[in-house]
Amino acid sequence: MHIIQEIKELKKKKNAVILAHCYQPVEVDEVADFVGDSFYLSQMAAKTDADIIVFAGVHFMAQSAKLLNPNKKVLLPNEKSGCFMADMIDVPALKEFKAKNPDIPVVCYINSTAEVKAECDICCTSSNAVKIVKSLNVPKVLFVPDTYLGKWVEKQLGNVEVITFNGYCPTHLRIRVVDIENARKLYPKAKILAHPECHHEVCKIVDFVGSTKEIMEYAEKSEDKEFIIATEKGVVDRLNRDSLLNNTGKSFRLIKEDIICQNMKWNTLEDIKNCLINEKYEINVDTSVFDKAKRTIQRMLEVK
Ligand code: 13P
Ligand code: SF4
Repeated sequence: MHIIQEIKELKKKKNAVILAHCYQPVEVDEVADFVGDSFYLSQMAAKTDADIIVFAGVHFMAQSAKLLNPNKKVLLPNEKSGCFMADMIDVPALKEFKAKNPDIPVVCYINSTAEVKAECDICCTSSNAVKIVKSLNVPKVLFVPDTYLGKWVEKQLGNVEVITFNGYCPTHLRIRVVDIENARKLYPKAKILAHPECHHEVCKIVDFVGSTKEIMEYAEKSEDKEFIIATEKGVVDRLNRDSLLNNTGKSFRLIKEDIICQNMKWNTLEDIKNCLINEKYEINVDTSVFDKAKRTIQRMLEVK
């Protein structure tokens, strides 16, 4: 039997749902029930009535799904799938950062561990970070771990000081101003779309900044035909696949060749099949941080 069919049958047999991030290898979509950005996938994780959640993404995403579903089995297909940014801050570093800036609410990007989330006031993703910071209605916030997303939020709001930890995404920081300038010269008609984890100078000179799902929606709705994508390659692969399928005549180019998050690429269809058969790798969250970390995510989901 073909592997895709095998996975579909295993899903049915085990009442499992597969959530896939849009940086995953594009063939993962063939077996996924939901594909999208971190916020959309947390919403879907919160709603599912499946017994097993397979998270085709990275560790912090699966951990967030577990926090929202304490009684379900949450599986990560390949245990190597971490996130460099999430690993840049631990609890002692967070405590030190808070001690230097006392009595200021702390917003954590979902790209963080449950232990870190438990020490923060509210979570956010790239698609709702501006709304979440605004909802706190305070003049100053601390933001961890991504300094680039934090400062981008500060710029959008204009009236809130966002004091950031010095974390970053190595994949997005490979995109430089010169890459945008070169793309403008080579493809003058193309719209350039970027993720807010990019350098500030990059975000300033592109045509649109948004989460992975927002970038895809912008491109789908746009009347333009040519696009340069300044985020991970998975987004480009999905946009080109959909353009071909729907015969839109739109073309999508990755800003430069090596914008690939290796962590997101570990999960293969074979891993997904094995993960359903062996019910591995199960993601659990330490009971000492569970409730507090869950509250931090729930607060985010409650912001209208
Ligand atoms: P999104 O929430 O935009 O999908 O971002 C997740 C991420 O890890 C980007 O690097
Ligand atoms: Fe983490 Fe960057 Fe990979 Fe996103 S692209 S999962 S922030 S390392």
